[in-house]
Amino acid sequence: MEWTINGRAYHAEPDIRTTVLDLLREHVGLTGAKKGCDHGQCGACTVLIDGRRVLSCLTLAVMHQGDAITTIEGIADGDALHPLQRAFIAHDGYQCGYCTPGQICSAVGMLDEAAKGWASHATGDLAAPVLDRAEISERMSGNLCRCAAYPNIVDAIAEVAEA
Ligand code: FES
Ligand code: FES
Repeated sequence: MEWTINGRAYHAEPDIRTTVLDLLREHVGLTGAKKGCDHGQCGACTVLIDGRRVLSCLTLAVMHQGDAITTIEGIADGDALHPLQRAFIAHDGYQCGYCTPGQICSAVGMLDEAAKGWASHATGDLAAPVLDRAEISERMSGNLCRCAAYPNIVDAIAEVAEA
């Protein structure tokens, strides 16, 4: 079976019950996406599939042959970090870092959703949504951080959102 991950083709023959997360970590050697809960509760495994943020522990790899899978390893442009990676460093948006790959992949997807005008539960004016701190917190609420680096995570994302 074949997958396209970070623009590169990978071949593997996992059990058909294998999740995208286990494909990444156990079969193709990409360990950036983390297994926090394996139950869709923590967001540590978040990757982008065809540009949409997805919990990779909850979706089967066989369903995503032919899709474009992007992991934290594919977010940077060569040696140039993605703006969100730079902002997380600048704002100290982590402590242990275990949740960080998922936080950053989720933020990439979230900013794209906001740019398309998609509303969240915290959106006040549907005609003119504003990506303020409350909005960012709501939209990132699927990504937990046991170190509680939330204020700095929001600072980092807010800086990129404003830019
Ligand atoms: Fe997927 Fe926790 S490992 S949501
Ligand atoms: Fe430790 Fe988020 S930085 S879990």
